[in-house]
Amino acid sequence: MKTLIRNGRVVTAVDDYIADIFIDGETVTTIGKMLDAEADVVIDASGKIVIPGGIDPHTHMELPFGGTQSSDDFFTGTRAAAFGGTTTIIDFAVQYKGESMIEAVDNWHAKAEGKCAIDYGFHLITTDFEDHHTEQMYTVMDEGITSFKLFMAYPGVFLVDDATIFRAMSAAGQRGGLICMHAENGIVINEIIKRFIADGRTAPKYHALSRPTIAEAEGVHRAIAIAEMAESPVYIVHLSSADALNKVREARDRGIPAFAETCPQYLFRSIDDYGDGWDGAKYVFTPPLREKHNCGELWKGLKMDDLQVISTDHCPFCMKEQKELGRESFDKIPNGAPGVENRMSLIYNGGVVENRISLNRFVELTSTAAAKMFGMFPKKGTIAVGSDADIVIFDPEKEHTFGVESEHMNVDYSTYEGWKVKGKVETVLSRGRVIIENGEHKGKAGDGQFIKRGECVKI
Ligand code: URP
Ligand code: ZN
Ligand code: ZN
Repeated sequence: MKTLIRNGRVVTAVDDYIADIFIDGETVTTIGKMLDAEADVVIDASGKIVIPGGIDPHTHMELPFGGTQSSDDFFTGTRAAAFGGTTTIIDFAVQYKGESMIEAVDNWHAKAEGKCAIDYGFHLITTDFEDHHTEQMYTVMDEGITSFKLFMAYPGVFLVDDATIFRAMSAAGQRGGLICMHAENGIVINEIIKRFIADGRTAPKYHALSRPTIAEAEGVHRAIAIAEMAESPVYIVHLSSADALNKVREARDRGIPAFAETCPQYLFRSIDDYGDGWDGAKYVFTPPLREKHNCGELWKGLKMDDLQVISTDHCPFCMKEQKELGRESFDKIPNGAPGVENRMSLIYNGGVVENRISLNRFVELTSTAAAKMFGMFPKKGTIAVGSDADIVIFDPEKEHTFGVESEHMNVDYSTYEGWKVKGKVETVLSRGRVIIENGEHKGKAGDGQFIKRGECVKI
């Protein structure tokens, strides 16, 4: 199959020009002006922006968590991602205590295989890492899983101690692997939660109040300090506050390879959204929403490259039956929210239209930086000769409204219900095939391939 995208405004992290893009099979083979080429499919992109497919390096499909399972499976979640202009996700496989890393990865392959609508990779959540796990870690890395997530939060579930963090970081760092850190002092947070519950403070908003920004900043500081001692880079996931950002900034200013992502919920929403009632359960995720002034600080961090990536931490749970598990007390509400479908338009509107970041930086933050950080560049994350033809044709003028009725995520609410944004995904190509067109999914479960990733942090 040969495809020609005509006359679009091609925007990458560094380029911005009008051109035609010729795709032979799955790969971009020629880019130029007024190409004289025969194609099976010709797409007119006049007046549209043509960007690399979004990469969301933080999703949780079918994650068993909080006494239930996240409500998007690998098909519904990746199809929703495609509707939103994301053509690659990196999801989190889980190694449970006592399980080998290889078993864990096999289990997640079995879940995702034949289901994904777009390409996908895995990080591996690691809950057990003794020195003898090093060999397993390297086996897993040879199979294309080159990043690992460790938790300083969720005691009794995912939390690991500092010795484990040090061992895992040392091993990963020696081989071009990357530790992604959920940085919050979960031990102290647990004590605060106990006090709140004893005092009858059980509404959803107490989830946020029990997790102060200083608990996140302490985690970030400790994660970076351990990484420094282990001589490895570190990537802080879902960074939510100015206090935490300052720890990253301070380390980067000293030349330490500390990296971080934030997510749209922390850029656009605030602690005020919890209100006093049950509806606040929609925003019970971790870290929680913060005081409004943090949003501006995070935008500054994105602008100055102290934050390198915008992911979603997409981890949906329905209000009905799932969030309801925590009706009596916030600590039983499954932590997570939907967002994989909203990210590209939200960031385009809030970032580019509202003049916070340039168009090139938008592409870098939503695609290119994740490809480089997680060992997929230049196959993914750009539009160039030889790259996978993962391409989004984006209408910069078209306005639309977010809402559960029009979204495709398998969940009964939208994190951004009723929000009007300018800029809409029009057509999406995944490795050369049109998978979204005229508001319809043209692909099928199993179109997406597992991406074997290389060494991380080629930024
Ligand atoms: O609330 C969240 N973030 N749920 C998903 C698990 C995690 O910590 O990323
Ligand atoms: Zn986390
Ligand atoms: Zn997460």
